[in-house]
Amino acid sequence: MNVTVFGTGYVGLVQAAVLAEAGHKVFCIDIDEGKIEGLKKGLVPIYEPGLTQLVERNIATSNLQFTTDARTGVEHGEIIFIAVGTPPDEDGSADLRHVLAVARTIAEHMGEPKVVVNKSTVPVGTADKVREAIKSALDKRGLQDLPFNVVSNPEFLKEGSAVADCTRPDRIIIGTDSREAEEALRQLYAPFNRNHEKIMAMDVRSAELAKYAANCMLATKISFMNEMAEIADSVGADIEQVRQGIGSDPRIGYQFIYAGIGYGGSCFPKDVKALITTASKLGLAADILNSVEQRNHRQKHYLLDKIEAHFGDDLSGKTFALWGLAFKPNTDDMREAPSRVLMEQLWERGAKVQAFDPQAMEECQRIYGVRGDLQLCGTKESALAGADALIIATEWQQFKAIDIKAVTGGLKKPVIFDGRNLYDPKQLARDGIEYHCVGRPS
Ligand code: UGA
Repeated sequence: MNVTVFGTGYVGLVQAAVLAEAGHKVFCIDIDEGKIEGLKKGLVPIYEPGLTQLVERNIATSNLQFTTDARTGVEHGEIIFIAVGTPPDEDGSADLRHVLAVARTIAEHMGEPKVVVNKSTVPVGTADKVREAIKSALDKRGLQDLPFNVVSNPEFLKEGSAVADCTRPDRIIIGTDSREAEEALRQLYAPFNRNHEKIMAMDVRSAELAKYAANCMLATKISFMNEMAEIADSVGADIEQVRQGIGSDPRIGYQFIYAGIGYGGSCFPKDVKALITTASKLGLAADILNSVEQRNHRQKHYLLDKIEAHFGDDLSGKTFALWGLAFKPNTDDMREAPSRVLMEQLWERGAKVQAFDPQAMEECQRIYGVRGDLQLCGTKESALAGADALIIATEWQQFKAIDIKAVTGGLKKPVIFDGRNLYDPKQLARDGIEYHCVGRPS
């Protein structure tokens, strides 16, 4: 099928590449000329395992094309995805400016029926707004009888495994009241719906809310476990034992119950805020979501409290090795990353940071520039050199097997503050390392 995707961010680019790989003819549109020029040459601006190869392969077959020319895109696609950003507005609600601008652009260039698909995470009711925006732009062009459909088709991919998630989705939600639009999307997704039925057709508003409900439920699981970890810390229990004890109940499950130093990224923080705002605009309380957000905010200071308990609150003259800058492994994304709160608080207290991350160093440089109290180190070992303690903020695979000699040899004194519970506290105690982690006795 001929498909057009507006927006070449995480969601749009991955979706486009995966659809192209499945044999569809896909055009990607973005207003960022530099980005489009790069993409035409196969330069993928984000780190996402497998994405560059996928993009290169599909450029070569011409299944995947890039342009800034909206008209070309609109003319090409029988199905047109809107996958542009929805940054939080001042009050925390999703800013629909970009989504609605794309809707108007589609209407400006449309000359035949189209299925317009909302892929961006948007509040309940957005499909109606997109429909109105297209309708009124068509009316202005005297094309009031030109039929079109607006479908909600939320994305559930995770950064770091985006290509795999998109290629093998666990569900494909199609929110529409049009039989015709549903059929078009069923045809589009047929290559991904082979082994068992993954397509769930529902009304538009349920599809829109399902996306928020999924992310907010996952954020709730994490914040709940983080709260349990603090309680475990105080009563002398081990949150890792508690995790296994409760995860074995299939009603709870093992996934997304790892305590840590708070969730980050571009989705959970934004979506929790947005749903709180939606609820409050409706006069509803959102008690649970407010608590989830507060707990997450507090959790990002969790290690800092332990650092202050150890070193005092004046950290001038101290240097900290920091392993992990990205908000989670396998990405270079530092949006809302706990590492940022940690670094900023350490700097505020006069400390220096020697940081290492396998992918996010450039991003860190871009955010913070060159500064005397931040040194970006080429290896995890060099980050340790002469530091007063090691802080771990991201659970990259390469941090999981600890080289005791490198740590004790590199640090001034062997002290670790681990925000991801990577090591066995007993083992580290035997190796003479002072180990502070989240919700486990040290
Ligand atoms: C999340 C959802 O998992 C995706 O399903 C969704 O499509 C996406 O948002 C989106 O809305 O676009 P993502 O933000 O890539 O995906 O990251 P996750 O892997 O879900 O991790 C989110 C955060 O939770 C990370 O900071 C991670 O460290 C934290 N986390 C996760 C924990 O602290 N504990 C856990 O047990 C699991």
